[in-house]
Amino acid sequence: MPSSQNIAILGSTGSIGTNAIEVVSQLENAKIFALSANSRLSLLCEQAAKHHPEILIAASPEHAAPFCFPDLPNSQLWIGEDKLVEIAAHPDVDVVLAAIVGSAGLRSTWSALESGKTVALANKETLVMAGPLAMDLARERNARVLPVDSEHSAIFQAINGEKAENIKRVILTASGGPFRNSSISEIRNATVKTALNHPTWKMGPKITIDSATMMNKSLELIEARWLFDLPAEKIDVVIHPQSIVHSLVEFVDGSIMAQLSPPDMKLPIQYALTYPDRSAGPTEKLDFNEAFRLDFQPPDFEKFPALLLGKEVAEKGGTTGAVLNAANEGAVAAFLDEKIGFLDITKACREILNHHDFDPNPSLDDLIALDAWARKEIIQWIAA
Ligand SMILES: NC(=O)c1ccc[n+]([C@@H]2O[C@H](COP(=O)([O-])OP(=O)(O)OC[C@H]3O[C@@H](n4cnc5c(N)ncnc54)[C@H](OP(=O)(O)O)[C@@H]3O)[C@@H](O)[C@H]2O)c1
Repeated sequence: MPSSQNIAILGSTGSIGTNAIEVVSQLENAKIFALSANSRLSLLCEQAAKHHPEILIAASPEHAAPFCFPDLPNSQLWIGEDKLVEIAAHPDVDVVLAAIVGSAGLRSTWSALESGKTVALANKETLVMAGPLAMDLARERNARVLPVDSEHSAIFQAINGEKAENIKRVILTASGGPFRNSSISEIRNATVKTALNHPTWKMGPKITIDSATMMNKSLELIEARWLFDLPAEKIDVVIHPQSIVHSLVEFVDGSIMAQLSPPDMKLPIQYALTYPDRSAGPTEKLDFNEAFRLDFQPPDFEKFPALLLGKEVAEKGGTTGAVLNAANEGAVAAFLDEKIGFLDITKACREILNHHDFDPNPSLDDLIALDAWARKEIIQWIAA
């Protein structure tokens, strides 16, 4: 990071957000300018008391109204969803760390791109829903999109300085989640508790369930499609249980470049914030004095049919990403509320995707309308 940068961490109370605060606190040339939360307002206030951001955003008026905010003399308090859009365009903000989960992160990420900011992008849902529009906007406004997802950070690092025509394919690694070695009947009986028990990563509940269904890898495949402008047939997935190789890039000459590090989101967050530089940071390092294994195996599409959806959506584009994303968000929420079974998540997504009115060139408004449509469809699907 060349000179001191003001960072707005949107979604600071989440898994990525709390890691990002730790990373920024240790960077010499970065300052936390704004923090935002939805429901965890006590944590937001603790963060503000410690890090003194100029602006503190409580995105939900419903959660903010009954909450008794302490006196925070160094920070202004902004309330409401629109304030996320405003902060992302604020003239004093240099970098927006987009760490809100789900389509709730779309408008603020969009605002940051529109304002030509550097966006450290954890909110993959923006690219899943509106990848071509978002990347066009970034190009038009000279906004830089730097991946925070560890797989995309790995690919970004491996292709640095390489010609696009030399890339044969990218290979996203997947831990396989908690059900990697389970039978289909065990997966059918998965409970919220077993599905939330991820073997290698500590993450928020939505992405943890997405990892268990492997929908997360599908969403990442779609994210890679638009972020790196690669056709779907050049994006593959391999199971790598140790989560040490974060992804691989194969070149036309057969060379494969990989990025390795222990599973810790602080490293890709830090790389997005220091790019194109690097700095010593708080993450654990690989220890080659100890023996360790790196295993790879092909994914099982029968056990994890969600993986097929990602390939299909990455191939088709248009409205499919927004529909898949919203259907999945609705279905995951219903699973976490114990209203549907584990296998129903992918089944519902498939059915809703199949019966939507496909449009190859939707506008952002069309996609937002479809997001609402797919959420209603999920409610009906559950009730049927
Ligand atoms: N966790 C990871 O390791 C990881 C890795 C790669 C990519 N990602 C991506 O990073 C994003 C965040 O994931 P996470 O695991 O950090 O999620 P998380 O722990 O659930 O945190 C989500 C954050 O978003 C806020 N939020 C939720 N709903 C909101 C709304 N309607 N309006 C405004 N803010 C809202 C939450 O606020 P409250 O907590 O205050 O309610 C929280 O700060 C996701 O897109 C995920 O796919 C995560």
